[in-house]
Amino acid sequence: MANMMLEMRNITKRFPGVKALDNVNLQVEEGEIHALVGENGAGKSTLMNVLSGIYPYGSYEGEILYQGEECRFSEIKDSEEKGIVIIHQELALVPYMTIGENMFLGNERGLRYGINWEETYTKANELLNTVGLREPSRTLVKDIGVGKQQLVEIAKALAKNVKLLILDEPTASLNEADSRKLLDLLLQFKKEGLTSIIISHKLNEISYVADKITIIRDGATIETLNNKTDDISEERIIRGMVGRELIDRFPKRSESHIGEIGLEVRNWNVYHPLYHGRKVVDDVSFHVRKGEVVGIAGLMGAGRTELALSIFGKSYGTNISGTLLIDSQEVNLKNTRQAIDKKLAYITEDRKGDGLILDNPIRINTTLAKMDKVSKNGIIDKDLEVIAANDYIQKLKTKCTSMEQVVGNLSGGNQQKVLVGKWMFADPDILILDEPTRGIDVGAKYEIYCIINQLVAEGKSILLISSELPELLGMCDRIYIMNEGRMVGEVMKEEATQELIMGQILKSSKGV
Ligand SMILES: Nc1ncnc2c1ncn2[C@@H]1O[C@H](COP(=O)(O)OP(=O)(O)OP(=O)(O)O)[C@@H](O)[C@H]1O
Ligand SMILES: [Mg+2]
Repeated sequence: MANMMLEMRNITKRFPGVKALDNVNLQVEEGEIHALVGENGAGKSTLMNVLSGIYPYGSYEGEILYQGEECRFSEIKDSEEKGIVIIHQELALVPYMTIGENMFLGNERGLRYGINWEETYTKANELLNTVGLREPSRTLVKDIGVGKQQLVEIAKALAKNVKLLILDEPTASLNEADSRKLLDLLLQFKKEGLTSIIISHKLNEISYVADKITIIRDGATIETLNNKTDDISEERIIRGMVGRELIDRFPKRSESHIGEIGLEVRNWNVYHPLYHGRKVVDDVSFHVRKGEVVGIAGLMGAGRTELALSIFGKSYGTNISGTLLIDSQEVNLKNTRQAIDKKLAYITEDRKGDGLILDNPIRINTTLAKMDKVSKNGIIDKDLEVIAANDYIQKLKTKCTSMEQVVGNLSGGNQQKVLVGKWMFADPDILILDEPTRGIDVGAKYEIYCIINQLVAEGKSILLISSELPELLGMCDRIYIMNEGRMVGEVMKEEATQELIMGQILKSSKGV
């Protein structure tokens, strides 16, 4: 029998008003990839924070045995000394530092006589090589994409002599190709003896990499599945997670009533805000009808978010040109306020950056985009706020202690739900959804899809940007394909397949 690397016994963790973990047990054997799955708010991140000492000994009940010895970590440094390294759900690299500096932050080379930069960068390059990232370690982190940043995080973990690597939703913001690369890297490290724990809502990836899967529901361990002896299909995992069969991933839409054009964009051009010579959106034209869900497929960096933001009151880019029509009327939206007034909404992919006020409660965040709906003569009516917040908590099944819970304390997926609620409350006619289900569990995804269907049934226009092709194929009436700032194709629902879309993207790439 393989050696037990980690045993977490009867872990109970309370926050004011919530028992986030209730007697959770987790056993991880040396050299395996162990997946932790469960719905949003189930307690996955909390369990890993207990393990890594972020929640110190004494703030939880139960015990942690690591390599046979009981651990009582009082801070993250203690667990790192033992080779336990956690890569968090939200990446934590410093954008204006180099890759090398980030990798050795808090773990600097040659401290006694000052930092040894030569050693830092040589060692950094070696480790980047190990994770298959061909990027000089003197590059600033802000200049590389999220896929590469994730690899830097792993290289950083390797710099700390990691023995047990914990990855909390490492592929949430990665496209399929980058995700696969990362998972293959984990499999390669496994061969070399590394043990890892991975948290993910992408169940196909879990089936792909995991040796064992522990399912957590409402802060309690439900079961552990072993890929050698159990069925670890997505359907089986879902049954454990939600406690029932989920027959369809995408809700059926009642008869569609596609009407007039709601949003039209003609010959849209956008330049980079800092590098003015760089065109980010190149002569893009498209339209979305009322009652229609239109997707935009594309790889990371295709310019989809930049396109959406530049339309949404010029919130990105410089030297923007082109024509924007709402209900066939030409409009010039100079800022987000004007965009919201024209009943346009943009649900950001970056909920922490510019979507939510994290230290404010759900109640306040819900009405943020449309305060005049809850105020009279400029004074906010708290009763109206309460009604609105409650309404969306129920509609979206947001897991929280109450509407007064601070958004920053919600689990990642539940923060996303608050963001969706905020924009639904603004009652827009045209919604641009940018990766709306990132980090959201399968059940909650279904809820969000139901809401999309309900919105189009009411005649709203929906533009859906997503890196998950199955999501676009399952939800859209029509899909545009964008690559390197240009629209390179358009497919109707009936003819759309993953192969067709990927084929068009590759065909249009420069140099191919
Ligand atoms: N600092 C905190 N204060 C209060 N409650 C918290 C805090 N951190 C987490 N919680 C609560 O504990 C529960 C578990 O949260 P956790 O972040 O562990 O969920 P998760 O399984 O990681 O979910 P997700 O898939 O959405 O990331 C949630 O109900 C959350 O609201
Ligand atoms: Mg989490």
